[in-house]
Amino acid sequence: MRSKVVTIDRHIIDQERKNPGATGRFSLLLYDIALAAKIISREVNMAGLIDVLGRTGEVNVQGEEVQKLDAFAQEAMVKAMDHAGHLCCMVSEECEDIIPIPEKFDMGPYVLLFDPLDGSSNINVNVSIGTIFSVLHRTTPRGRPGTIDDCLQPGYRQLAAGYVIYGSSTMLVYTTGITSGVHGFTLDPSIGEFLLSHRDIRIPDPPAKVYSVNEAYYGLWSEEQQRLVDHLRGLDGKGNGGFKSRYIGSLVSDFHRTLLQGGIFMYPPDERAPKGKLRILYEASPLALVCEAAGGRASDGFRNILNLIPRGLHDRTPVFLGSKSLVGLAEKYLIGDL
Ligand code: AHG
Ligand code: MN
Ligand code: MN
Repeated sequence: MRSKVVTIDRHIIDQERKNPGATGRFSLLLYDIALAAKIISREVNMAGLIDVLGRTGEVNVQGEEVQKLDAFAQEAMVKAMDHAGHLCCMVSEECEDIIPIPEKFDMGPYVLLFDPLDGSSNINVNVSIGTIFSVLHRTTPRGRPGTIDDCLQPGYRQLAAGYVIYGSSTMLVYTTGITSGVHGFTLDPSIGEFLLSHRDIRIPDPPAKVYSVNEAYYGLWSEEQQRLVDHLRGLDGKGNGGFKSRYIGSLVSDFHRTLLQGGIFMYPPDERAPKGKLRILYEASPLALVCEAAGGRASDGFRNILNLIPRGLHDRTPVFLGSKSLVGLAEKYLIGDL
């Protein structure tokens, strides 16, 4: 029997109804994020056809070459979100400082933090890429522009978090909190609607036996990290347990596979990057909330990522996301217990 067709807008309203104190403003914010996702999806899916591929020639705050689609996605997010009166400021991977709300627009109580296009290195080879977003409530008094203090909050304070994956289909996956579940919506481009396709996603445990890490850095890892991956490869004489290695190089894609199949995604620290590569505010925290809301575990190797308080907008953290059993095993290796 065909299940009923539920659009993301309908789902957001239904979720709001379960929350008696809801003002509806938060729902409007989520609608606008979905709109920005549709705009970016259209561009990403035409990237090979129009002159959107290639480099802008600029370098961003991360010291990375800005691809044209990065710039387009950045622009699309800001333009879709800056005028609706929900936000007091924004944070983007592509901008060194906070993005203020233009004076001509009303401000609201929320902060939007985002990675407009994740997996940029894969843009020109048609590999899935994504957008990651996080919503916080401001902590400073209303009526004035948001400040960096409104942004430097631990992940457990997020009101919503999620991502869009531009793959064989475009999907938006989000949660409004650890106890609110994780829901996935697939874009039907023929009607321009995100339709509920994955209700209440739970990360499988026992998991699919898949580990995901860039093994090129093996020689730069700690001895504990090396022993963990040796174990997953079956090199430590304890049997491989049938693990496969899968690494796409787009965090959103590697995480999405881990969320749906189970397994573990790792971006460990190494000699070059003692805090790893991934940024807390708009990569690690939002995906950690989704992971934990789906019954998984999100760790920096020792602590829950959701408890990390960044000191800077672009602070990084090691990332271990996935099925509880595997992230727990990783932590045991990393503290030297195994
Ligand atoms: P972004 O494109 O937003 O800069 O993110 C790239 C990140 C992430 O998507 C991925 O997991 C990681 O870079 C891959 O890094 P390596 O190439 O070092 O494995
Ligand atoms: Mn990224
Ligand atoms: Mn990015």
